[in-house]
Amino acid sequence: MRVLVVGGGGREHALLWALHRDAPDATFFCLPGNAGTSRLAQNIPGKPTDVDAVTAAARERRVDLVVVGPEAPLAAGLADRLAKERIATFGPSAAAARIESSKAFAKTLMVKHRVPTAAARSFTELSQATRYIGSHPEPLVVKASGLAAGKGAVVCRTRAQARTAATSMLRTGALGEAGAEILVEEYLSGEELSVLAITDGEHFAILPPAQDHKRLGEGDTGPNTGGMGAYCPVGIASPELLRRIADEIIEPVLEALRIEGAPYRGTLYAGLMISSSGAPSVIEFNCRFGDPEAQAILPVLPDGILPVLRLIAEGGWMPAGLKLGHARGAAVATVLAAEGYPNAPKQGAEISVPPDLEADGDVLIFHAGTAADAQGRLRVTGGRVLAVTATAPSVAAAAARSRDAAERIHFDGKQYRRDIGWREIARGR
Ligand code: AMP
Ligand code: GLY
Repeated sequence: MRVLVVGGGGREHALLWALHRDAPDATFFCLPGNAGTSRLAQNIPGKPTDVDAVTAAARERRVDLVVVGPEAPLAAGLADRLAKERIATFGPSAAAARIESSKAFAKTLMVKHRVPTAAARSFTELSQATRYIGSHPEPLVVKASGLAAGKGAVVCRTRAQARTAATSMLRTGALGEAGAEILVEEYLSGEELSVLAITDGEHFAILPPAQDHKRLGEGDTGPNTGGMGAYCPVGIASPELLRRIADEIIEPVLEALRIEGAPYRGTLYAGLMISSSGAPSVIEFNCRFGDPEAQAILPVLPDGILPVLRLIAEGGWMPAGLKLGHARGAAVATVLAAEGYPNAPKQGAEISVPPDLEADGDVLIFHAGTAADAQGRLRVTGGRVLAVTATAPSVAAAAARSRDAAERIHFDGKQYRRDIGWREIARGR
């Protein structure tokens, strides 16, 4: 069997790790990959959004299965193109990926099908947006409708801040095409939860939920990032809450997409706010695994994810009897980011990982922005550099291991949070 993973971040390294565990004899490719994926797969240089080039690479290598990591190639129609070439692909069509690539589309769909979500209105005209903001209670949220690589949502304490955010998106064009349409949205309070469902468009299996840590600094302070760490499972995700999420959110959205003529195949990621009374509400959908959620979820899943992804990619559903909903123990992933991340990450620092850490069975070092230089030394090449996942019976124990490991890996300017999982630890888990 020959498998291509598209993408080059920590999520893709974690996906490769899980797939390789299921099929150690299979041949793996990763496009473009990183220094970590090159140990499990042959890296293929190229851009994931270059649909022609990725398709050609899959054809040339006679790949049986493509697993697409990031959203941009899905939004660009990679899954549609590979389907035309009859190459089995795990990941939604561009039409179904609009659930992430157009927040305006997602919002309309949710309202139409009564899926609980923050009240919002979409605008392309600044004057109309400004008028609406003028009568909106504070705080409020301004969001670019399109894909903005994690920079599209601005939580605003005041209407004045919201006007500034709307102006920068609609008039200044700060986010380009992604910000040509914006949403002005009600602020939701509560605790965030990332719920990922693997689906063939009709059936679905909810994976053990995770919690991301979006802010750069400890105690959830500082600027928003792509995610500084994640843990799994999450204590607030009771069976009752998950049933509500399945019934009120996942099931109706999959049905809505079928009605739209865009059946969903792949991983549907629901970014939720859970209110203090325990009611789930959608903040956003993503059309893929989360990063760094994947680095915390995949290590606690049972073996056998590869056959599931392959069956779905080929138009089928899960093997009977496989249960993906229950976490085996707990995992905590701590992200190590480059100096200057998220605004201006500095590249080039040499990375050193203690050999005993590489050999530790309870620690997984997933690479993101890394590459080997001509001398074979590991170098920083991106904003998020590594995610160190530790597994243990409890989140508290996994968090301590992950933090210790993150401390022992060195590169100049390393930034990481020592409090990943703090909410769960405060719950006594
Ligand atoms: P998004 O890009 O939609 O995932 O938003 C990024 C982050 O902004 C989320 O993870 C939340 O922390 C925050 N956020 C987005 N929308 C809302 C909202 N309606 N209420 C409260 N926080 C929000
Ligand atoms: N960790 C958030 C995301 O993957 O979008």
